[in-house]
Amino acid sequence: MELNNTITRSEETGETSRPAPTKKVFIKTYGCQMNVYDSQRMTDALTTDGYAQTEAIEDADLILFNTCHIRERAAEKVYSELGRLNKLKAERASNGREMLVGVTGCVAQAEGNEILRRSPVVDLVVGPQTYHRLPQVVKKARAGEKIVETEYAIEDKFEHLPKLEKAAVRSRGVTAFLTVQEGCDKFCTFCVVPYTRGSEVSRPVSQIVAEAERLTEAGVREITLLGQNVNAWHGEGPDGKEWGLAQLLYRLAEVPGLARLRYTTSHPRDMDVDLIAAHRDLASLMPYLHLPVQSGSDRILKAMNRKHTADEYLRLIERIREARLDIAMSGDFIVGFPGETDEDFEATMRLIREVNYAQAFSFKYSQRPGTPGADMKFQVEEHVKDERLQQLQALLMQQQHAFTASRIGMEMNALIEKPGRKPGQIVGRSPWLQPVIIDENVAQIGDIIKVRIMSAGPNSLYAEPA
Ligand code: 5AD
Ligand code: SF4
Repeated sequence: MELNNTITRSEETGETSRPAPTKKVFIKTYGCQMNVYDSQRMTDALTTDGYAQTEAIEDADLILFNTCHIRERAAEKVYSELGRLNKLKAERASNGREMLVGVTGCVAQAEGNEILRRSPVVDLVVGPQTYHRLPQVVKKARAGEKIVETEYAIEDKFEHLPKLEKAAVRSRGVTAFLTVQEGCDKFCTFCVVPYTRGSEVSRPVSQIVAEAERLTEAGVREITLLGQNVNAWHGEGPDGKEWGLAQLLYRLAEVPGLARLRYTTSHPRDMDVDLIAAHRDLASLMPYLHLPVQSGSDRILKAMNRKHTADEYLRLIERIREARLDIAMSGDFIVGFPGETDEDFEATMRLIREVNYAQAFSFKYSQRPGTPGADMKFQVEEHVKDERLQQLQALLMQQQHAFTASRIGMEMNALIEKPGRKPGQIVGRSPWLQPVIIDENVAQIGDIIKVRIMSAGPNSLYAEPA
Protein backbone atom coordinates (compact mmCIF):
# COMPACT_ATOMS: atom_id res chain seq x y z
CA MET A 1 0.00 0.00 0.00
CA GLU A 2 1.27 3.44 -0.88
CA LEU A 3 1.75 5.92 1.94
CA ASN A 4 -0.63 8.78 2.07
CA ASN A 5 1.40 11.95 2.23
CA THR A 6 -1.31 14.57 2.37
CA ILE A 7 -1.20 16.81 5.38
CA THR A 8 -3.85 19.41 6.00
CA ARG A 9 -3.20 22.55 7.98
CA SER A 10 -5.85 24.12 10.12
CA GLU A 11 -6.04 27.87 9.40
CA GLU A 12 -7.05 28.60 12.97
CA THR A 13 -4.48 26.73 15.01
CA GLY A 14 -1.66 26.24 12.55
CA GLU A 15 -1.54 22.63 13.76
CA THR A 16 -1.47 19.93 11.15
CA SER A 17 -3.83 17.00 11.02
CA ARG A 18 -2.31 13.87 9.61
CA PRO A 19 -3.59 10.86 7.80
CA ALA A 20 -4.11 7.87 10.08
CA PRO A 21 -0.77 6.01 10.44
CA THR A 22 -0.54 2.92 8.27
CA LYS A 23 2.95 1.68 9.20
CA LYS A 24 5.02 1.31 12.33
CA VAL A 25 8.55 2.48 13.06
CA PHE A 26 10.79 1.20 15.84
CA ILE A 27 13.86 3.27 16.72
CA LYS A 28 16.60 2.05 19.02
CA THR A 29 18.94 4.77 20.23
CA TYR A 30 22.55 4.24 21.27
CA GLY A 31 25.02 6.70 22.72
CA CYS A 32 24.67 10.34 23.58
CA GLN A 33 21.83 12.74 24.25
CA MET A 34 22.12 14.21 20.79
CA ASN A 35 21.13 10.83 19.41
CA VAL A 36 18.12 10.82 21.74
CA TYR A 37 17.15 14.21 20.37
CA ASP A 38 17.75 13.14 16.76
CA SER A 39 15.68 9.97 17.24
CA GLN A 40 12.73 12.03 18.44
CA ARG A 41 13.01 14.32 15.44
CA MET A 42 13.28 11.37 13.06
CA THR A 43 10.15 9.92 14.62
CA ASP A 44 8.43 13.29 14.09
CA ALA A 45 9.46 13.36 10.43
CA LEU A 46 8.28 9.81 9.84
CA THR A 47 4.96 10.36 11.64
CA THR A 48 4.30 13.13 9.18
CA ASP A 49 4.80 10.46 6.54
CA GLY A 50 2.24 8.08 7.99
CA TYR A 51 4.37 6.04 10.42
CA ALA A 52 3.36 5.51 14.03
CA GLN A 53 6.01 4.78 16.65
CA THR A 54 6.11 1.32 18.21
CA GLU A 55 8.06 -0.06 21.17
CA ALA A 56 7.79 -3.60 19.79
CA ILE A 57 10.48 -4.47 17.28
CA GLU A 58 8.56 -7.59 16.06
CA ASP A 59 5.70 -5.35 15.08
CA ALA A 60 7.65 -2.76 13.08
CA ASP A 61 7.64 -2.18 9.33
CA LEU A 62 10.70 0.00 9.68
CA ILE A 63 13.49 -0.63 12.19
CA LEU A 64 16.08 2.08 12.73
CA PHE A 65 19.23 1.79 14.82
CA ASN A 66 20.49 5.26 15.68
CA THR A 67 24.07 4.41 16.44
CA CYS A 68 27.17 5.55 18.32
CA HIS A 69 30.76 5.20 17.10
CA ILE A 70 32.60 6.67 20.07
CA ARG A 71 34.06 3.40 21.37
CA GLU A 72 34.65 0.10 19.60
CA ARG A 73 32.20 -1.76 21.77
CA ALA A 74 29.37 0.66 20.93
CA ALA A 75 29.97 0.18 17.19
CA GLU A 76 30.30 -3.61 17.40
CA LYS A 77 27.07 -3.93 19.38
CA VAL A 78 25.19 -2.54 16.39
CA TYR A 79 26.49 -5.28 14.11
CA SER A 80 25.53 -8.03 16.53
CA GLU A 81 22.03 -6.55 16.93
CA LEU A 82 21.70 -6.34 13.15
CA GLY A 83 22.72 -9.98 12.91
CA ARG A 84 19.76 -10.88 15.12
CA LEU A 85 17.33 -9.30 12.63
CA ASN A 86 18.09 -11.80 9.86
CA LYS A 87 15.60 -14.35 11.19
CA LEU A 88 12.83 -11.81 11.70
CA LYS A 89 13.31 -10.42 8.22
CA ALA A 90 13.20 -13.90 6.66
CA GLU A 91 9.99 -14.71 8.54
CA ARG A 92 8.48 -11.48 7.34
CA ALA A 93 9.48 -12.14 3.75
CA SER A 94 7.79 -15.54 3.88
CA ASN A 95 4.61 -13.88 5.19
CA GLY A 96 4.78 -11.26 2.45
CA ARG A 97 5.04 -8.40 4.94
CA GLU A 98 7.63 -5.70 4.45
CA MET A 99 10.36 -5.02 6.99
CA LEU A 100 12.95 -2.35 6.30
CA VAL A 101 16.10 -1.99 8.38
CA GLY A 102 18.04 1.26 8.61
CA VAL A 103 21.22 2.39 10.32
CA THR A 104 21.52 6.07 11.24
CA GLY A 105 23.88 8.06 13.47
CA CYS A 106 27.65 7.99 13.76
CA VAL A 107 28.30 4.38 12.68
CA ALA A 108 26.31 5.19 9.53
CA GLN A 109 28.46 8.24 8.88
CA ALA A 110 31.75 6.50 9.63
CA GLU A 111 31.16 3.19 7.88
CA GLY A 112 28.65 3.95 5.10
CA ASN A 113 28.73 1.22 2.45
CA GLU A 114 30.68 -1.09 4.72
CA ILE A 115 27.46 -1.59 6.71
CA LEU A 116 25.62 -2.95 3.66
CA ARG A 117 28.55 -5.24 2.99
CA ARG A 118 28.76 -6.59 6.55
CA SER A 119 25.01 -6.71 7.20
CA PRO A 120 22.94 -7.55 4.12
CA VAL A 121 19.82 -7.23 6.28
CA VAL A 122 20.24 -3.44 6.09
CA ASP A 123 18.27 -1.48 3.48
CA LEU A 124 19.26 2.10 4.26
CA VAL A 125 22.13 3.99 5.86
CA VAL A 126 21.66 7.66 6.75
CA GLY A 127 24.26 9.90 8.42
CA PRO A 128 23.45 12.50 11.09
CA GLN A 129 23.65 15.46 8.72
CA THR A 130 21.08 14.10 6.28
CA TYR A 131 18.07 13.23 8.43
CA HIS A 132 15.91 15.71 6.54
CA ARG A 133 16.17 13.29 3.60
CA LEU A 134 15.05 10.30 5.68
CA PRO A 135 11.43 10.20 4.40
CA GLN A 136 12.63 10.17 0.76
CA VAL A 137 15.24 7.56 1.56
CA VAL A 138 12.60 5.34 3.19
CA LYS A 139 10.39 5.74 0.16
CA LYS A 140 13.19 4.61 -2.16
CA ALA A 141 14.04 1.72 0.12
CA ARG A 142 10.41 0.62 0.03
CA ALA A 143 10.70 0.50 -3.73
CA GLY A 144 13.54 -1.99 -3.30
CA GLU A 145 16.61 0.24 -3.53
CA LYS A 146 19.55 -0.06 -1.10
CA ILE A 147 20.64 3.43 -0.11
CA VAL A 148 23.60 5.04 1.62
CA GLU A 149 23.04 8.73 2.31
CA THR A 150 25.96 10.35 4.10
CA GLU A 151 27.05 13.22 1.83
CA TYR A 152 26.00 16.68 2.89
CA ALA A 153 26.74 20.36 2.35
CA ILE A 154 27.72 22.28 5.47
CA GLU A 155 24.87 24.80 4.97
CA ASP A 156 22.46 21.86 5.27
CA LYS A 157 23.55 21.04 8.76
CA PHE A 158 20.47 22.21 10.60
CA GLU A 159 18.12 21.45 7.71
CA HIS A 160 17.85 17.94 9.08
CA LEU A 161 15.60 19.18 11.86
CA PRO A 162 11.97 19.09 10.80
CA LYS A 163 9.65 21.73 12.27
CA LEU A 164 8.70 20.77 15.77
CA GLU A 165 4.99 20.27 16.21
CA LYS A 166 3.17 20.91 19.47
CA ALA A 167 1.43 17.55 19.44
CA ALA A 168 4.78 15.82 19.15
CA VAL A 169 6.20 17.72 22.12
CA ARG A 170 3.19 17.11 24.39
CA SER A 171 3.78 13.40 24.39
CA ARG A 172 7.32 13.87 25.69
CA GLY A 173 7.05 15.49 29.08
CA VAL A 174 8.28 18.61 30.81
CA THR A 175 11.98 18.40 30.03
CA ALA A 176 13.43 18.58 26.54
CA PHE A 177 16.67 18.66 24.62
CA LEU A 178 17.37 21.36 22.07
CA THR A 179 20.33 21.02 19.71
CA VAL A 180 22.11 24.36 19.24
CA GLN A 181 25.48 23.25 17.94
CA GLU A 182 26.87 20.24 16.15
CA GLY A 183 30.28 18.96 15.31
CA CYS A 184 33.76 19.50 16.65
CA ASP A 185 36.98 21.18 15.51
CA LYS A 186 39.04 20.23 18.55
CA PHE A 187 40.48 16.94 17.28
CA CYS A 188 41.31 15.29 20.56
CA THR A 189 43.57 12.47 19.43
CA PHE A 190 41.30 9.71 20.83
CA CYS A 191 38.02 10.93 19.39
CA VAL A 192 35.99 10.13 16.25
CA VAL A 193 33.48 12.95 16.66
CA PRO A 194 35.24 15.47 14.38
CA TYR A 195 35.04 12.81 11.65
CA THR A 196 31.50 11.53 12.26
CA ARG A 197 29.76 14.78 13.19
CA GLY A 198 31.89 17.08 11.04
CA SER A 199 33.14 20.58 11.86
CA GLU A 200 31.59 22.93 14.42
CA VAL A 201 28.39 24.55 13.23
CA SER A 202 26.10 26.75 15.33
CA ARG A 203 22.37 26.95 14.83
CA PRO A 204 21.02 30.51 14.33
CA VAL A 205 19.53 32.36 17.33
CA SER A 206 16.11 32.82 15.71
CA GLN A 207 15.71 29.06 15.12
CA ILE A 208 16.75 28.24 18.67
CA VAL A 209 14.44 30.81 20.28
CA ALA A 210 11.53 29.69 18.08
CA GLU A 211 12.06 26.06 19.08
CA ALA A 212 12.37 26.98 22.76
CA GLU A 213 9.09 28.92 22.55
CA ARG A 214 7.38 26.04 20.81
CA LEU A 215 8.59 23.68 23.53
CA THR A 216 7.42 25.87 26.40
CA GLU A 217 4.05 26.53 24.75
CA ALA A 218 3.58 22.77 24.79
CA GLY A 219 4.36 22.59 28.51
CA VAL A 220 8.14 22.07 28.64
CA ARG A 221 9.67 23.71 31.75
CA GLU A 222 13.31 22.66 31.44
CA ILE A 223 15.50 22.74 28.33
CA THR A 224 18.96 21.24 27.95
CA LEU A 225 20.91 22.84 25.12
CA LEU A 226 22.90 20.22 23.26
CA GLY A 227 26.11 20.34 21.31
CA GLN A 228 29.27 18.25 21.00
CA ASN A 229 30.98 21.51 21.96
CA VAL A 230 27.98 23.42 23.16
CA ASN A 231 29.99 26.25 24.70
CA ALA A 232 31.67 26.89 21.35
CA TRP A 233 28.23 27.99 20.11
CA HIS A 234 28.29 31.47 18.57
CA GLY A 235 26.09 33.46 16.27
CA GLU A 236 24.77 36.87 15.36
CA GLY A 237 22.34 38.21 17.96
CA PRO A 238 19.25 40.27 17.07
CA ASP A 239 21.30 43.29 18.25
CA GLY A 240 23.69 42.68 15.35
CA LYS A 241 26.47 41.73 17.79
CA GLU A 242 28.37 38.45 17.90
CA TRP A 243 26.82 36.30 20.62
CA GLY A 244 28.35 33.44 22.55
CA LEU A 245 26.54 30.79 24.57
CA ALA A 246 26.27 33.21 27.53
CA GLN A 247 24.24 35.75 25.52
CA LEU A 248 22.06 32.96 24.15
CA LEU A 249 21.35 31.76 27.70
CA TYR A 250 20.37 35.28 28.84
CA ARG A 251 17.96 35.45 25.89
CA LEU A 252 16.47 32.01 26.53
CA ALA A 253 16.01 32.85 30.22
CA GLU A 254 13.38 35.37 29.03
CA VAL A 255 11.26 32.76 27.22
CA PRO A 256 7.91 32.68 29.08
CA GLY A 257 7.32 29.49 31.04
CA LEU A 258 10.91 28.31 30.78
CA ALA A 259 12.02 27.70 34.36
CA ARG A 260 15.25 25.76 33.96
CA LEU A 261 18.17 25.77 31.58
CA ARG A 262 21.11 23.42 31.22
CA TYR A 263 23.74 22.84 28.55
CA THR A 264 26.00 19.95 27.65
CA THR A 265 28.79 19.06 26.66
CA SER A 266 31.40 21.72 27.20
CA HIS A 267 35.12 21.97 26.53
CA PRO A 268 37.22 23.69 29.22
CA ARG A 269 38.85 25.93 26.61
CA ASP A 270 35.50 27.47 25.63
CA MET A 271 34.38 28.36 29.19
CA ASP A 272 34.72 32.12 28.79
CA VAL A 273 34.26 34.96 31.31
CA ASP A 274 30.73 35.72 30.10
CA LEU A 275 29.60 32.12 30.44
CA ILE A 276 30.95 31.94 33.98
CA ALA A 277 29.12 35.22 34.75
CA ALA A 278 25.89 33.71 33.39
CA HIS A 279 26.14 31.06 36.10
CA ARG A 280 26.24 33.87 38.67
CA ASP A 281 23.44 35.95 37.09
CA LEU A 282 20.85 33.49 35.86
CA ALA A 283 18.72 31.79 38.49
CA SER A 284 17.23 29.55 35.81
CA LEU A 285 20.64 28.23 34.78
CA MET A 286 20.91 25.10 36.90
CA PRO A 287 23.94 24.67 39.20
CA TYR A 288 25.32 21.62 37.43
CA LEU A 289 28.11 21.61 34.88
CA HIS A 290 29.45 18.75 32.80
CA LEU A 291 33.03 19.71 32.00
CA PRO A 292 35.11 16.76 30.81
CA VAL A 293 38.85 16.78 31.50
CA GLN A 294 39.72 13.17 30.46
CA SER A 295 43.01 13.03 32.40
CA GLY A 296 44.82 14.77 35.25
CA SER A 297 48.29 14.32 33.75
CA ASP A 298 49.74 17.19 31.71
CA ARG A 299 51.76 14.77 29.61
CA ILE A 300 48.65 12.80 28.67
CA LEU A 301 46.55 15.94 28.20
CA LYS A 302 49.16 17.11 25.71
CA ALA A 303 49.18 13.77 23.88
CA MET A 304 45.39 13.95 23.80
CA ASN A 305 45.60 17.42 22.21
CA ARG A 306 43.33 18.88 24.89
CA LYS A 307 45.29 22.17 24.78
CA HIS A 308 45.15 22.89 28.51
CA THR A 309 46.89 21.67 31.65
CA ALA A 310 45.43 20.03 34.73
CA ASP A 311 46.15 23.17 36.72
CA GLU A 312 44.33 25.39 34.22
CA TYR A 313 41.30 23.12 34.55
CA LEU A 314 41.42 23.28 38.34
CA ARG A 315 41.74 27.10 38.33
CA LEU A 316 38.81 27.29 35.91
CA ILE A 317 36.64 25.27 38.29
CA GLU A 318 37.68 27.57 41.12
CA ARG A 319 36.42 30.56 39.14
CA ILE A 320 33.16 28.81 38.26
CA ARG A 321 32.62 27.92 41.92
CA GLU A 322 33.28 31.52 42.94
CA ALA A 323 30.54 32.61 40.53
CA ARG A 324 28.07 29.93 41.65
CA LEU A 325 28.76 28.47 45.07
CA ASP A 326 26.38 25.53 44.85
CA ILE A 327 27.48 24.34 41.40
CA ALA A 328 28.04 20.59 41.10
CA MET A 329 30.71 19.33 38.73
CA SER A 330 30.50 16.39 36.38
CA GLY A 331 33.16 15.07 34.02
CA ASP A 332 34.41 12.41 31.64
CA PHE A 333 37.59 10.37 32.09
CA ILE A 334 39.59 8.04 29.91
CA VAL A 335 41.99 5.53 31.45
CA GLY A 336 44.72 3.76 29.52
CA PHE A 337 45.37 6.35 26.83
CA PRO A 338 48.55 5.31 24.94
CA GLY A 339 51.63 5.95 27.08
CA GLU A 340 49.68 6.41 30.36
CA THR A 341 51.93 5.33 33.25
CA ASP A 342 51.01 4.62 36.87
CA GLU A 343 52.17 8.15 37.67
CA ASP A 344 49.93 9.68 35.01
CA PHE A 345 47.03 7.69 36.37
CA GLU A 346 47.82 8.85 39.91
CA ALA A 347 47.68 12.45 38.65
CA THR A 348 44.14 11.77 37.40
CA MET A 349 43.16 10.33 40.80
CA ARG A 350 44.61 13.45 42.50
CA LEU A 351 42.65 15.75 40.20
CA ILE A 352 39.44 13.86 40.97
CA ARG A 353 40.08 14.20 44.71
CA GLU A 354 40.70 17.90 44.29
CA VAL A 355 37.58 18.61 42.21
CA ASN A 356 35.21 16.32 44.12
CA TYR A 357 32.69 15.40 41.41
CA ALA A 358 28.96 15.03 41.88
CA GLN A 359 28.87 12.64 38.96
CA ALA A 360 31.23 11.44 36.24
CA PHE A 361 31.54 9.06 33.32
CA SER A 362 34.68 7.01 32.81
CA PHE A 363 35.89 4.77 30.04
CA LYS A 364 38.75 2.54 29.03
CA TYR A 365 40.59 4.02 26.07
CA SER A 366 39.32 2.45 22.85
CA GLN A 367 41.43 2.59 19.68
CA ARG A 368 39.33 4.24 16.98
CA PRO A 369 40.43 3.72 13.35
CA GLY A 370 41.42 6.97 11.68
CA THR A 371 42.21 8.86 14.89
CA PRO A 372 45.85 9.74 15.76
CA GLY A 373 45.64 7.83 19.07
CA ALA A 374 45.00 4.55 17.29
CA ASP A 375 48.50 4.57 15.79
CA MET A 376 50.37 5.78 18.87
CA LYS A 377 53.06 3.62 20.40
CA PHE A 378 52.77 2.23 23.94
CA GLN A 379 49.14 1.14 23.86
CA VAL A 380 48.20 0.16 27.39
CA GLU A 381 47.41 -3.48 28.13
CA GLU A 382 43.77 -4.38 28.67
CA HIS A 383 44.26 -5.72 32.21
CA VAL A 384 45.98 -2.47 33.24
CA LYS A 385 43.08 -0.47 31.82
CA ASP A 386 40.67 -2.71 33.74
CA GLU A 387 42.49 -2.20 37.04
CA ARG A 388 42.71 1.56 36.60
CA LEU A 389 39.09 1.89 35.59
CA GLN A 390 38.00 -0.05 38.65
CA GLN A 391 40.04 2.15 40.97
CA LEU A 392 38.87 5.35 39.33
CA GLN A 393 35.22 4.34 39.34
CA ALA A 394 35.38 3.37 43.01
CA LEU A 395 36.58 6.88 43.83
CA LEU A 396 34.01 8.57 41.61
CA MET A 397 31.22 6.42 43.05
CA GLN A 398 32.27 7.35 46.57
CA GLN A 399 32.16 11.04 45.63
CA GLN A 400 28.79 10.68 43.95
CA HIS A 401 27.24 8.98 46.98
CA ALA A 402 28.72 11.59 49.29
CA PHE A 403 27.29 14.34 47.11
CA THR A 404 23.83 12.77 47.13
CA ALA A 405 23.95 12.26 50.90
CA SER A 406 25.01 15.88 51.40
CA ARG A 407 21.55 16.95 50.14
CA ILE A 408 19.81 15.41 53.19
CA GLY A 409 18.18 18.13 55.29
CA MET A 410 18.28 20.66 52.43
CA GLU A 411 15.30 22.55 51.08
CA MET A 412 15.29 22.75 47.32
CA ASN A 413 13.04 23.10 44.28
CA ALA A 414 11.95 20.00 42.45
CA LEU A 415 10.48 20.00 38.96
CA ILE A 416 7.73 17.38 38.97
CA GLU A 417 8.25 15.09 35.96
CA LYS A 418 6.07 11.99 36.36
CA PRO A 419 4.01 9.81 38.66
CA GLY A 420 6.02 7.46 40.88
CA ARG A 421 5.89 3.66 40.96
CA LYS A 422 3.69 3.56 44.05
CA PRO A 423 0.16 5.01 43.99
CA GLY A 424 0.10 8.66 45.07
CA GLN A 425 3.85 9.02 44.60
CA ILE A 426 5.33 11.71 42.36
CA VAL A 427 8.85 12.02 40.99
CA GLY A 428 10.64 15.26 40.36
CA ARG A 429 14.16 16.39 39.49
CA SER A 430 16.53 18.34 41.74
CA PRO A 431 18.61 21.25 40.42
CA TRP A 432 21.52 18.75 40.40
CA LEU A 433 19.70 16.24 38.19
CA GLN A 434 18.86 13.75 40.95
CA PRO A 435 15.41 12.12 40.93
CA VAL A 436 13.36 13.39 43.89
CA ILE A 437 10.70 10.98 45.15
CA ILE A 438 7.75 12.43 47.05
CA ASP A 439 5.18 10.14 48.68
CA GLU A 440 2.30 12.62 48.58
CA ASN A 441 0.51 13.63 45.43
CA VAL A 442 0.87 17.34 46.18
CA ALA A 443 1.58 18.74 42.72
CA GLN A 444 0.92 18.43 39.01
CA ILE A 445 3.45 17.35 36.41
CA GLY A 446 5.34 20.46 35.34
CA ASP A 447 5.01 22.20 38.72
CA ILE A 448 8.09 23.34 40.55
CA ILE A 449 7.65 22.86 44.27
CA LYS A 450 9.76 23.40 47.35
CA VAL A 451 10.69 20.15 49.10
CA ARG A 452 12.79 19.07 52.07
CA ILE A 453 15.14 16.12 51.56
CA MET A 454 14.59 13.48 54.26
CA SER A 455 16.84 10.68 53.05
CA ALA A 456 18.91 9.56 50.08
CA GLY A 457 19.63 6.40 48.12
CA PRO A 458 22.77 6.05 45.98
CA ASN A 459 21.35 8.45 43.39
CA SER A 460 17.78 9.33 44.37
CA LEU A 461 16.51 11.74 46.99
CA TYR A 462 13.42 11.13 49.16
CA ALA A 463 11.54 14.29 50.05
CA GLU A 464 8.53 15.83 51.78
CA PRO A 465 6.79 18.97 50.63
CA ALA A 466 8.36 21.91 52.49
N1 5AD B 1 37.97 5.77 24.00
C1 5AD B 1 37.39 5.90 25.21
N2 5AD B 1 36.58 6.92 25.54
C2 5AD B 1 36.35 7.85 24.61
N3 5AD B 1 35.62 8.98 24.64
C3 5AD B 1 35.69 9.56 23.43
N4 5AD B 1 36.48 8.85 22.61
C4 5AD B 1 36.91 7.78 23.32
C5 5AD B 1 37.76 6.68 23.03
N5 5AD B 1 38.35 6.54 21.85
C6 5AD B 1 34.91 9.44 25.83
C7 5AD B 1 35.43 10.80 26.29
C8 5AD B 1 34.33 11.74 25.88
C9 5AD B 1 33.12 10.84 26.04
C10 5AD B 1 31.91 11.31 25.31
O1 5AD B 1 33.53 9.60 25.53
O2 5AD B 1 35.57 10.77 27.69
O3 5AD B 1 34.26 12.90 26.68
FE1 SF4 C 1 35.79 14.54 20.80
FE2 SF4 C 1 37.52 16.27 21.90
FE3 SF4 C 1 35.67 17.15 20.16
FE4 SF4 C 1 34.92 16.33 22.62
S1 SF4 C 1 36.27 18.09 22.15
S2 SF4 C 1 33.94 15.80 20.66
S3 SF4 C 1 36.33 14.67 23.01
S4 SF4 C 1 37.37 15.75 19.71
